[in-house]
Amino acid sequence: MGLADISRERLPIRATLADLKLTIRSDSLQRIRSFVRRESRMTRAQQRAFAELWSRFGIDAGAARLEPEQIFGRRGPLVLEIGFGDGESLAAMAAADPETDYLGIEVHRPGIGHLLLRSTQLELSNLRILCADAMAIVEWQLPDECLDRIQIFFPDPWPKVRHHKRRLIQPSFMTLLAGKAKPAGQLLIATDCEDYARSILASLNSAPEWLNTAADHGFAPRPVQRLLTKFEQRGQRLGHVVQDLAFVRR
Ligand SMILES: C[S@@+](CC[C@H](N)C(=O)[O-])C[C@H]1O[C@@H](n2cnc3c(N)ncnc32)[C@H](O)[C@@H]1O
Repeated sequence: MGLADISRERLPIRATLADLKLTIRSDSLQRIRSFVRRESRMTRAQQRAFAELWSRFGIDAGAARLEPEQIFGRRGPLVLEIGFGDGESLAAMAAADPETDYLGIEVHRPGIGHLLLRSTQLELSNLRILCADAMAIVEWQLPDECLDRIQIFFPDPWPKVRHHKRRLIQPSFMTLLAGKAKPAGQLLIATDCEDYARSILASLNSAPEWLNTAADHGFAPRPVQRLLTKFEQRGQRLGHVVQDLAFVRR
């Protein structure tokens, strides 16, 4: 494949020539995205938050490897949340747990704007935000064995069978994530989509890198860390049942 064959649209993140060379070697060019950028409009406050607060809480996606110790100025436990939505629960979690550092990755800019505002209101020094496809960040920018916990709460369910290929939680991504978790690092997932829950359980139970911590290798009790999210609230109104999954890296 030559450079001319690579359209910007298919690249996971804004590309420099160096990224491009890296990307050519990767399968990620063919990756099917787990999201569609439906940019609902940002409020003025969210736009202002991007302009004024990104330099404080945001990390620009690019080719450089992330160095958590440099980012947070210390070596603390590190938690990654993928797809934080409006970030309310992530901000509350970070505020309640100041000894731990939190990285949040999301593609929905209004949600990120919301979290920027919450982060400054709560004066969080232990939270940083990336606006990018988490699959690309995990693959290219996260160092190996750096995460104490990975949390994915209510990944987009993509309920139609023809869209299942878009689901974030696929065996290849779970293997990639395992390489970024510390030994005994946790993977917490919650979903209110019944067949997605079952397929995640089956796929992680058969993944050699992950060990199910729940009794009988089934679903887990709700973890204490997981606060009510906006998407969960919506599910509750619709009468959905939530399933939690809790694994540790072997
Ligand atoms: C159903 S929402 C749930 C949001 C939030 N966790 C909650 O419970 O309210 C899923 C979120 O994941 C985000 N998302 C999906 N794929 C992503 C990806 N590859 N990288 C980053 N964020 C992603 C979407 O933009 C969306 O905000």
